[in-house]
Amino acid sequence: MDKQKRIGLLTSGGDCPGLNAVIRAVISQATLSYGWEVLGIPYATEGLLDRKAMSLTMHGLDTRGIDPLLSMGGTILGTINRGNTLDKSEEIIAGYHDLGLDALVAIGGDGSLTILNKLAQKGGWNLIGIPKTIDNDVAITERAIGFDTAVNTITEALNRLTYTAASHDRIMIVEVMGRSAGHLALHAGIAGGADVILIPEIPYSIAGLCRHIAELNDRWGRKFAIVVVAEGILPVTPVTGCEVSPSKPQPLCGMGQYIADQITHYRRLYESNRYTETRVSVLGHIQRGGLPLAMDRLMAAAFGKAAVDLIAQSQSGQMVTWQSGRVVPVPLEVVLSQSPCPVDPNNYLVQTARSLGTYIGDDTTAIVTAPALPTTV
Ligand code: F6P
Repeated sequence: MDKQKRIGLLTSGGDCPGLNAVIRAVISQATLSYGWEVLGIPYATEGLLDRKAMSLTMHGLDTRGIDPLLSMGGTILGTINRGNTLDKSEEIIAGYHDLGLDALVAIGGDGSLTILNKLAQKGGWNLIGIPKTIDNDVAITERAIGFDTAVNTITEALNRLTYTAASHDRIMIVEVMGRSAGHLALHAGIAGGADVILIPEIPYSIAGLCRHIAELNDRWGRKFAIVVVAEGILPVTPVTGCEVSPSKPQPLCGMGQYIADQITHYRRLYESNRYTETRVSVLGHIQRGGLPLAMDRLMAAAFGKAAVDLIAQSQSGQMVTWQSGRVVPVPLEVVLSQSPCPVDPNNYLVQTARSLGTYIGDDTTAIVTAPALPTTV
């Protein structure tokens, strides 16, 4: 019989719905199928640095027989999305060995997995990655944990905003997350029936956007519009005074408000016969909160099981990916060399948005990719 293993489990980067469901699945497969021990490492690399770990057991958190992990948002392990522990890499590497780990399962986005993969290579760790991010910009996997729930959250917000916009004849601008990628805006914009979707990967013009809104009115009698703006779009005119933080080193500075101001400015100059009020909703961290929906729970179960099975097969340096409804392991090196993965401006969803009459930029051929952000843990 195989030696009993002790595996570590951590969550790293921004939280999202479904992380606890992955934790539950890893515990279940490791303890019930293999009889291994699972140690939860709090706050990612900080936990390794401090040699902190908690023993995780199946049903260990049950309340009156109810397992909260399946549906609870956030992560019971805590997480960090700052890279300020990196200069202590030797100590972090030693933390893995001091805790007596045989392998580590890391649930993270491309930034976290890049750093952890480097630590694993340097320190001789056995590492298996599980992709999570509402931005869905981890390459090769069709879906990362959290994305589906976030798309639904935005879609619901768009439904709500449509009625108030229609009642007041307003242009409603909705800023959504995604950093330098437009997957969230594109998916939710289509699902929520947006009239305009602006994403970092496709160039747009205020003139083109305003012409489209004017046409909605002239052709269809529509007096309101829903405009989805990805936070990472590039401004068409320079903006100063943007906030820059470790998780947003690219100056993401209120692109929703920026677009609203540009629309007002353009209309005053060129369409003075038209006046429509604008309102801006920044969905912010609401997109990261909440209960995971069925798709994220399903993927969490499949990813958690597959990650543990890979360790049982003595695999390392792999990430589980979702491809056509199946879990496929792919070397982390391959995934990370192609991440963060932007929206392909010619993909079927972009074409679908256009076929629905959505304004999604002027130029259908040029590919403009926002600069990739530095990685964070
Ligand atoms: O990467 C996930 C993400 O939610 C981005 O979409 C967003 O820009 C960023 O994290 C926000 O991070 P923070 O938690 O530091 O505000």
